[in-house]
Amino acid sequence: MAEVRIKVRENGPYLVTGPVTLTDCDGNVYEVQGENIALCRCGQSSTKPFCDATHKRCGFVATERAVTVPQE
Ligand code: FES
Repeated sequence: MAEVRIKVRENGPYLVTGPVTLTDCDGNVYEVQGENIALCRCGQSSTKPFCDATHKRCGFVATERAVTVPQE
């Protein structure tokens, strides 16, 4: 089974890579071309749940990082 990866882009969308099924709240499946999708996390896209690059114009800032725990 292929691995699914989700990358949080700095000041941008969630990039999803791999074989996923994306559904709306009613369970209807979105048609997705290929195995790479960008999901909006700024809330401003006019094509939600997909990113339409509006985050670049609306001043969306999100620079959080995953917390790393030092190895003992
Ligand atoms: S993250 Fe790109 S339009 Fe929202």
